[in-house]
Amino acid sequence: MTTDNLAHETASLLAGFGIGPEILSAGDFAVTSPIDGSRIAALRPHTPGDLDAMIAAAERAFPLWRAVPPPRRGELVRLFAEELRRHKPALGRLVSIEAGKILEEGQGEVQEMIDICDFAVGLSRQLYGKVIASERPGHRMLESWHPLGPAGIITAFNFPVAVWSWNAALALVCGDPLIWKPSDKTPLCALACNAILGRAIARLGDMPDELRNGLSQVAIGGAELGEALCDDRRVPLVSATGSTRMGAIVGPRVAQRFGRTLLELGGNNGMIVAPSADLDLALRAILFAAVGTAGQRCTTLRRLIVSQDIADTLIDQLKRAYRQVRIGNPLEPGTLVGPLIGETAFAGMQRALGEAKRDGGHVFGGERVLAERWAAAYYVRPALVEMPRQTDIVRRETFAPILYVMRYRDFDDAIAMHNSVPQGLASSIFTTDLREAEFFTSAAGSDCGIVNVNIGPSGAEIGGAFGGEKETGGGREAGSDSWKAYMRRMTTTINYSRDLPLAQGIKFDIETAP
Ligand code: UN1
Repeated sequence: MTTDNLAHETASLLAGFGIGPEILSAGDFAVTSPIDGSRIAALRPHTPGDLDAMIAAAERAFPLWRAVPPPRRGELVRLFAEELRRHKPALGRLVSIEAGKILEEGQGEVQEMIDICDFAVGLSRQLYGKVIASERPGHRMLESWHPLGPAGIITAFNFPVAVWSWNAALALVCGDPLIWKPSDKTPLCALACNAILGRAIARLGDMPDELRNGLSQVAIGGAELGEALCDDRRVPLVSATGSTRMGAIVGPRVAQRFGRTLLELGGNNGMIVAPSADLDLALRAILFAAVGTAGQRCTTLRRLIVSQDIADTLIDQLKRAYRQVRIGNPLEPGTLVGPLIGETAFAGMQRALGEAKRDGGHVFGGERVLAERWAAAYYVRPALVEMPRQTDIVRRETFAPILYVMRYRDFDDAIAMHNSVPQGLASSIFTTDLREAEFFTSAAGSDCGIVNVNIGPSGAEIGGAFGGEKETGGGREAGSDSWKAYMRRMTTTINYSRDLPLAQGIKFDIETAP
């Protein structure tokens, strides 16, 4: 494959979404493909002034969108899902080219977009409030949910389309305009998604220009744009997905102006494999969770806590499987592991492996491959690292395919080891012992937001709330009642009596003249 091929193919994919070639050479903001390190576009980045204008446009669109009945807002999302179904092969391929995912996973990501849209369409008729019993006679209390305002969405390179769609589909039915600051590594996916949404907006028809122009916008550029979004009082919600380091900047900045954040940050996801586990299932689950997406999911399996009774057997089987995994061009069918996103990720992985070795770890794999074919791309063999214990490096998230393996003797120790990391996103247990499975999902078990039994920690469905505790940030996106983050809650008390009783039985009257 040559550089020209990827740039050319990118341009023709984008043309299919209605994005003209002039945009791809409009500036000096370079976009490269991790597949071969070649440049596929040079965009014109947005300035802080551009972002300011976008926020103003979103602010103008808000009262207009808020006034559209929710099921009609859902109709837009339904049309968006139709467009996504039509464009799934092309958008999935663009994800592969720009983020380096294998084709199967690129397509899966678009499917995740379709799924959340379908969910949001149903939700558009179910933004339910509550009727609450009042303690006062002749009174009624209720809770209702109203649109919040422009939603700022900051996303990472590793899920360059799906994570935005979790936010976008819900925010749209909830009545909020969108301002998206995608990763500076995957701006083309963002432009593509917005163009596809633009098609749905055009099909919906019947929209004033102010609404059409401000409903969904993309800000291309570096961290300064994300920071400006965080500081702007006109953006009541900032939903940010990415590293804990990024979240530690976003959280306080938004809080300082009393804005709301939805944080979905780093994970350091573990799996306990108990003596009774179905090892065949466990092996397959470990492989997908640890090696899939080249270890670049926030839900990637990073820590394997395995009973000493079965550890040797499982580790042998894993090594055999790791040797067979096909690493290479993610656009070629049969490839299971594509490239890392870039050199920084590769350097971080090598540093982590070095530290693990100094801590007494035995490293299997982890070396760079295919460098002679693609000098500017970073392909690695996934690493399996047997650790004598859970040292500091294991407790940090390294965004690369490193699976640390620790052994346990006692189930309580396994749970304690599992929970003694700063992150709290996803977790799993493989066991056929009902007591262990139930304990793991109990209050005293896993301390994560996602707690699975006999499946791996990654690859969640959109129907559940997605996110986690501790340094993962506490936010929940996608399913269940995550939509509430995109709305403001209103509590109302209505008095339909002829008296004015006060709550808590308080008497507060003046003597009235007869
Ligand atoms: C992410 O890596 O930020 O559960 C999202 C999963 C996917 C989403 C991952 N559905 O692995």
